Amino acid sequence: MALSPQFLDELKHRFTLSDVVGRQVKLVRAGREHQGLCPFHNEKTPSFTVNDQKGFYHCFGCGAHGSVIDFVMGTQGMEFMEAIEMLAGEAGMEMPRQTPEQIERDKKRGTLSDAMDAVAKWYAAQLKGQIGRAAYDYIKGRGLTDETIERFGLGYAPAARTSLKDALIARGVGEDQLIETGMLIKPEGGGASYDRFRDRLMFPITDRQGRVIAFGGRALSADAKAKYLNSPETTLFHKGATLYNWANARAASYDAGQVMVVEGYMDVIALAQYGIDYAVAPLGTALTEEQISHLWQMADEPILSFDGDNAGMRAASRAVERALPMLKPGKSLRFIIMPEGDDPDSLVQREGKHAIEKLIDNADPLVNVLWRNLTEGVPVDTPERRAGLEKKIFGVLSEIEDENVKKLYQTEFRNRIWELFRPQKKQGGASAGSQRSFQKGGGFQRKPSGPLQPWQQSGGLKHTSFAQGDKARPVTDRMEKVILLTLVHHPEILIKHEELVASLELSTTGLDGIRNALLEMAAAGETLDHEAVITHLQGRPEMAALEKLLSDRAIRDDWFAWGDAALSDALTGFEHIVSRFQHITAAKAAYEQAEAEFAAEMTEENRDRFIAAQEAFRALEEKEADKEGYRLESGRFSFN
Ligand code: UTP
Ligand code: MN
Repeated sequence: MALSPQFLDELKHRFTLSDVVGRQVKLVRAGREHQGLCPFHNEKTPSFTVNDQKGFYHCFGCGAHGSVIDFVMGTQGMEFMEAIEMLAGEAGMEMPRQTPEQIERDKKRGTLSDAMDAVAKWYAAQLKGQIGRAAYDYIKGRGLTDETIERFGLGYAPAARTSLKDALIARGVGEDQLIETGMLIKPEGGGASYDRFRDRLMFPITDRQGRVIAFGGRALSADAKAKYLNSPETTLFHKGATLYNWANARAASYDAGQVMVVEGYMDVIALAQYGIDYAVAPLGTALTEEQISHLWQMADEPILSFDGDNAGMRAASRAVERALPMLKPGKSLRFIIMPEGDDPDSLVQREGKHAIEKLIDNADPLVNVLWRNLTEGVPVDTPERRAGLEKKIFGVLSEIEDENVKKLYQTEFRNRIWELFRPQKKQGGASAGSQRSFQKGGGFQRKPSGPLQPWQQSGGLKHTSFAQGDKARPVTDRMEKVILLTLVHHPEILIKHEELVASLELSTTGLDGIRNALLEMAAAGETLDHEAVITHLQGRPEMAALEKLLSDRAIRDDWFAWGDAALSDALTGFEHIVSRFQHITAAKAAYEQAEAEFAAEMTEENRDRFIAAQEAFRALEEKEADKEGYRLESGRFSFN
């Protein structure tokens, strides 16, 4: 039974050769290859080499050479089909059952491929002939050498309506095949077929093995409808599953440890002419997941290059979005935005290989491009906007499927958010310019940030944080009221706690007035009882505050604060609530202090201190809010 080349190719790709070999031969990694003692002959020093990228082993001692299939046959004494069946079983691939239709299809594929080969040869011949003169001059004028033209199989499709059709049919290629490969267009409503590509410079597109499967045709006259016309999807050609120059770049990228994706065919070709052989291009569409997977087989961090115009920027963003869910440990992308007005073709022709290599060296990691996409131009001048941005960022990161990569991205972005939100003290200073931006002409560069946002000004946190909203109020307000209410009903407490009362930091003006009036009475040696207090306050502005206090429903249930509580209960209740009040105001002061320090100097240490102080305060606040009324505790009590 004949197995299709596609099946065998797929089967080989399911295995990493060194894994299979490694089961029987102890291998040691040496650069990009593995070495060990040859299983095919006796030796003491290793001359057996395994190359995973090429899927071949080679023994420099005995010359044994082959693929994973050969290895299994050679070491396990299997016949070809046995080895295939074993490997297919292990890979979970179903053995192709060659139905007559399949045999027919393979044959057809073969003939289609042969047809494309004939077409490519014919186009190439036209470019060299009289009819292709203008096209040839054009491409030479674009700086390509004859060698390059030859190497990329460039050709010319003449302008006449059926020149390809006539020539190929005369060479024995069927019209059906030319239609099926998209080379001829068969009008829907009947009528004779005609050449799809006319008066165009032709770029053969090959598959991974270098067989011609499609063409790209570049217009030569300005009035052509599209600058580039590509073959349609056919039995042979699936745009999203292949890459221009894939076959050549596969080997080169392996040697360079690098693969570069550019936008245009001409870019690929010019780069190759200048010694950068590891460039590929998508086929006139945005990069697909399948193409990204192929790229990751060639290098861990493929370099994606885009033109420095808006379309290029958008394409870069799309590539990031596409790749994000697919990121794996060690597998990412890096980005180059070409200098304004240049593409890799023009740059390499003007400045040489070096200029491109410099861009590659400075290519920006995907993480930076993603960050920029998410944050650039997004206002973060209010807490809601900052929260909105944060939400968006973490929503996007959740798309990363690999848990480890996702976690590390989250950590990275948390830090970047922290950097972004942190107010910057010195405008234009070194620390103020930490926001990076995606710049044309050399990837990301530091640039000074613009004028500071209002919230970024020194002390900016004060405006957005608790200082003015003062969530502490409800709880401490109530405590202040209870304390004053107790004192008004039981001013005798002042005999014991005059100093303490004087030291209380009261935030409500009315209550402060009452407290001062009480202290005046004590200082003046007046009788300290409730009647005396009322008499003393009568006709003074503090009376209004007192009346308000007495009618405050919020403190109705704090029974010890009222006149009918025994003095001893009032005293204990007072001491307890003052103690709690002092705790909470001290915590609040520490919180404000930490916040001020943090606002003044945004170090991690200050941030941590600020967060700790904030938490301590909130805990006390919550505890206080949870109290329903006041439960008299009989235990001893001490101040300090
Ligand atoms: P470019 O216009 O940048 O092409 O489009 P280029 O290769 O640099 O061509 P020159 O330098 O003008 O000769 C980039 C790629 O987008 C696709 C082609 O794949 C092209 O190589 N494209 C462009 C189309 O498919 N159709 C178009 O009309 C234009
Ligand atoms: Mn170009």
